[in-house]
Amino acid sequence: MVLVAGGAGYVGSHVAKALRNAGRQYAVLDNLEKGHEAAVLGAPLLHGDLRDQDGLRAALRSAQPSAVMLFAGYTSVGESVRNPSKYWANNVLGLINLLQAAGEVGVRRFIFSSSAAVYGEPQSIPIPEDHPKEPTNPYGESKLFGEKLIRWHCEAAGAGAISLRYFNAAGADPDGELGEDHRPEEHLIPLAIDAALGRRPELTIFGDDYPTRDGTCVRDYVHVTDLAAAHVLALDHLEDSTGHVAYNLGSERGFTVREVVETVASVASRPVPHSVGARRAGDPAVLVASNALAKERLGWTPRYADLSTIVEHALKWRAAHPNGYGIEA
Ligand SMILES: NC(=O)c1ccc[n+]([C@@H]2O[C@H](COP(=O)([O-])OP(=O)(O)OC[C@H]3O[C@@H](n4cnc5c(N)ncnc54)[C@H](O)[C@@H]3O)[C@@H](O)[C@H]2O)c1
Repeated sequence: MVLVAGGAGYVGSHVAKALRNAGRQYAVLDNLEKGHEAAVLGAPLLHGDLRDQDGLRAALRSAQPSAVMLFAGYTSVGESVRNPSKYWANNVLGLINLLQAAGEVGVRRFIFSSSAAVYGEPQSIPIPEDHPKEPTNPYGESKLFGEKLIRWHCEAAGAGAISLRYFNAAGADPDGELGEDHRPEEHLIPLAIDAALGRRPELTIFGDDYPTRDGTCVRDYVHVTDLAAAHVLALDHLEDSTGHVAYNLGSERGFTVREVVETVASVASRPVPHSVGARRAGDPAVLVASNALAKERLGWTPRYADLSTIVEHALKWRAAHPNGYGIEA
């Protein structure tokens, strides 16, 4: 049994669906602060918070998982800069609680949602896993520290763990059952789609004076269903291994913000109203993953690598769910 902590959120819900499709048993634990009950398909939802140690212990004792996947945490880089303690309390202390409670019931396999934010300003592109790690914000620091906590826990407990460093998760379930509904939404593709659909006045592009082909930031977009597939592969990979390993999950292709905006306009057949604002502090010009290690060791190949397909799936879900997981269109 796999405990999917944070499985009512964007990435976790897609991973839970992949577990279901692979015939695995799982339960979702979520406090629903950012997640959505409607995103939990066909599995028990344990309402719980990683910061509530007693509640967490009780949930793990009742679920008796053999593996834990951890998606739960706060995810906004900007908010983490304004309020670092909030990020330590959830992303670090919550993880410590989880490791303790999981240790007590003998969990031996962990999969952790890490991030490209662990690297900070890249010194080379594409970024390999052994690139120096110097996060430029508390969110990235919380992920790097999380990886270290897990590594030491595994060493002590003889357990195995994989940290998956996502680049920009994007897209939506190709069947249209699940999608992206962050509140507030901070990700480029849903914001550009909303601007195209007239649901927000315009999109702001943060800076157009970067040393890139059109002056806007370059990012590596990876389909959320491809991320989900990597988690199932990682779970199998952990079957007979101990210790901690980290893998990048990206497509190895970078698109500028303007290229994404053009793709959204073309897929939606509508213009994306936009303006150019100031740069955001700590935004590197280019972030593109090397995914060679995940391909070689996990046997992972992104299936939906094409940006138009990613946008198409995101648009399909967003058009059908103007209020996200709230009210249907
Ligand atoms: N979305 C991305 O592009 C991206 C990129 C890199 C890394 N990540 C990481 O992947 C993970 C999932 O991201 P997401 O976009 O799905 O975020 P999300 O906010 O949609 O999902 C997180 C889920 O965890 C739950 N949660 C948060 N704190 C909790 C707590 N203390 N106890 C119980 N539940 C709690 C929320 O309610 C939510 O359902 C996060 O850890 C994030 O840092 C995401």
